[in-house]
Amino acid sequence: MSHEFEDKDRVETVRLTMPSGEKAGGNFFQQVGGSPAFEKLAAAFYEGVATDDVLRPMYPEDDLGPAARRLQLFLEQYWGGPSTYQEERGHPRLRMRHAAFKINPLARERWLLHMRAALESLELAPQKEAEFWAYLDRAATAMLNTFED
Ligand code: HEM
Repeated sequence: MSHEFEDKDRVETVRLTMPSGEKAGGNFFQQVGGSPAFEKLAAAFYEGVATDDVLRPMYPEDDLGPAARRLQLFLEQYWGGPSTYQEERGHPRLRMRHAAFKINPLARERWLLHMRAALESLELAPQKEAEFWAYLDRAATAMLNTFED
């Protein structure tokens, strides 16, 4: 009797991968709900930014709608959705694009605070939420460009 190749393992393999090589459940972008989810995330995030005394003054435009859209499209592209961001804005080069703003630990903390609330509003499966959060936390750290007040 061999336990090397149990049937349940085989079934699992078949379920996870389509003949095309695509994951059966879709990529991360699709798994968390596609564009509507990313639109909701960006809108909720900017609702927080609108009330924030550290972040709000950094945004030159009165209307935060266009900024919300840029963030939405970037995140969609990052997680495997359409590459509209790249088509409209070119290569992300996010650190360079943020160089004009003073991103100290307080700004990072505020950014993450609003992102946390926005992410929770999506009510994702805990593992998806954790994966998304780990990325945002890391990306926000990468954006730090000063330790001055
Ligand atoms: C850590 C604190 C951060 C602060 C204070 C900050 C602030 C800003 C500001 C003031 C803008 C300009 C608004 C606009 O015109 O779009 C901007 C743009 C943007 N930010 Fe951030 N940001 C932070 C972190 C991040 C992170 C972690 C990401 C990605 C995960 C991100 C993604 C973007 C994108 C995609 C844009 C639009 C870039 C473009 O196409 O011009 N930001 N951010």
